[in-house]
Amino acid sequence: MIALMQEFELTQPVCLVGFMGAGKSSLAGRLARMCMIPAVDMDALIEERSGRKIAEIFAESGEAQFRAYESGLLSELASAAPAVISCGGGVVLAAENQQILKSSTCVVYLDIGFEEAHKRISDLSTRPLFADIEKARELYLQRKPLYEQLADICIDSGTKSVNEIALELQEALLAKGVLCQRQK
Ligand code: S3P
Repeated sequence: MIALMQEFELTQPVCLVGFMGAGKSSLAGRLARMCMIPAVDMDALIEERSGRKIAEIFAESGEAQFRAYESGLLSELASAAPAVISCGGGVVLAAENQQILKSSTCVVYLDIGFEEAHKRISDLSTRPLFADIEKARELYLQRKPLYEQLADICIDSGTKSVNEIALELQEALLAKGVLCQRQK
């Protein structure tokens, strides 16, 4: 067992990917606190910088504008000081994003069943692409192979607590040398 609150550092950015509701943001926060490493939530940063909620960006400027913000931010974060990056569920769609994820980051896929993901999202109004459940199911099926192809690490997030997943991920990142104990 690895001691909690030990200081660690990342050797490359760690991108958490997976469908909406997989628990990426909670996991990024928990891992960051556990290892005392920085975390960034891409959607939260897009909202902060644009002064608009994600749902407003989709409604007022369209999905393409949101995807442009998302790609610009991923490119910026991939070359910044390494952090745990909680990505939006659609980050794996654009070829330019796939290239960045593969070449410059460690991709962690949080795998969750569609029904469980749906159950977990308490406020569907914050997820424009979950407004129509059948369309959301199609997106899920389209994206699952992309998440799997890009993943360096896969974690089943459906049945475990955030804490259990954070510990599992910490061990996997240490084993890969992506997470290291900080030299004092
Ligand atoms: C999206 C997922 C959302 C957000 C936007 C689009 C998607 O993020 O980026 O609504 O295309 O799957 P979460 O995966 O954090 O919900």
